[in-house]
Amino acid sequence: MSSLAASHPTSAERIARPLVRLLRHPLVDNVVRLSTVEDVMQHVRPTASLTEVRARVLAVRDETPDTRTWLLQPNALWRGHQAGQHVTVRTVRDGRRVQRPYSLSSAPGDGPLAITVKRQPGGLVSNHLHDTLRVGDVVALGAAEGDFVLPAVLPTRLTLLSAGSGITPVMALLRELRRRGHDGAIAFVHVCRTPQDLIFGDELRALAARCPELPGLRVHLHVSASTGRWTPADLARAVPDWAGRATWLCGPSAFMDAVSAHWATHGARAPLHRERFTPAWTPPQPLDMPVAVQAARSGRAFASTGASSLLLQAEQAGLAPQHGCRIGICRSCQCVKRSGTVQNLQTGALSSEPNELIRLCVSAARSDLTLDL
Ligand SMILES: Cc1cc2nc3c(=O)[nH]c(=O)nc-3n(C[C@H](O)[C@H](O)[C@H](O)COP(=O)(O)OP(=O)(O)OC[C@H]3O[C@@H](n4cnc5c(N)ncnc54)[C@H](O)[C@@H]3O)c2cc1C
Ligand code: FES
Repeated sequence: MSSLAASHPTSAERIARPLVRLLRHPLVDNVVRLSTVEDVMQHVRPTASLTEVRARVLAVRDETPDTRTWLLQPNALWRGHQAGQHVTVRTVRDGRRVQRPYSLSSAPGDGPLAITVKRQPGGLVSNHLHDTLRVGDVVALGAAEGDFVLPAVLPTRLTLLSAGSGITPVMALLRELRRRGHDGAIAFVHVCRTPQDLIFGDELRALAARCPELPGLRVHLHVSASTGRWTPADLARAVPDWAGRATWLCGPSAFMDAVSAHWATHGARAPLHRERFTPAWTPPQPLDMPVAVQAARSGRAFASTGASSLLLQAEQAGLAPQHGCRIGICRSCQCVKRSGTVQNLQTGALSSEPNELIRLCVSAARSDLTLDL
């Protein structure tokens, strides 16, 4: 994931960095630890930190029965974002730090940051946020990342195409277009199951009725429970010149795959910008017998059935490998596989090379393994 967030340090960072360097110096570290200073600061003021962006929840808004928006006020270490980017949200669940990437549904200049999260059945972090994150609470945020953003020079005709919770970064793009007063032709096409599942429904209906800042905006809502399953043929009906419009796409895997295939089949020349929330692959076949995975650095071991990624299986065994996107983009879960065979879930390829770098979130065990974890 490329980071397009503001790259200049904030003035708070300019003050914090030398302090952090000083506190990490072995002579100082022997007397006072950085972690102790951080604990004291957070005790006095929960958003205070020398090292991480911490954000206070200002408001919580229900969008649909299973989707909620949190408005967040970040501390002075926040470097800003571009509409369409996402952040890693870190919080604590049962005493353990957990994190997931979430798109910012707000555009820069909208006021507080916003994340909009849909509960996933059985999902660890989405349900934890819904169940526990209240006004006044504090979460930690990573820097804004991602290249699902608008160009400096806007195309005169464009399409924003989303389904389900995929509307979140796309809504940020629409809000940014409104902020920039774009007078080109904008088709906002969104697919939801029922009217009750429409996220940002009030705002969309108001924009569809009248938006002087976006004179060329046309909103096309497809409610599949009443209209039937959406197919890319519906795009052609709503936006006849779709093939010539730069398009920003986000939604469930099947939806994104169908649109991508449609683009390829019709040889559409206009760029198709994609943001995925979920992996593009199907879960791997379980092995006949579980295999043993040695996490060499921590001295721990776990059994893997091979039926999901090594990241997920390591977490289920109580390990906490570093990670970010969990879908093979950011490389933060990369580690050395010392020995054994893994399958790359993106390509299906098997690899038995010793001492190779693998990404845990897109690799499944196919034999006993030793990992540099
Ligand atoms: C770049 C990026 C931006 C994202 N932005 C948003 C956002 O704005 N709003 C949002 O609600 N989610 C967003 N997600 C998804 C989010 O990161 C989590 O994956 C999601 O909240 C589920 O996490 P969990 O811990 O609840 O579920 P987990 O315990 O991690 O997983 C539960 C199961 O749900 C599946 N799953 C995960 N996400 C989805 C999904 N979206 N639809 C269907 N099944 C899913 C997993 O594959 C797994 O099988 C984004 C993901 C990425 C990579
Ligand atoms: S967590 Fe991002 S590549 Fe694995």
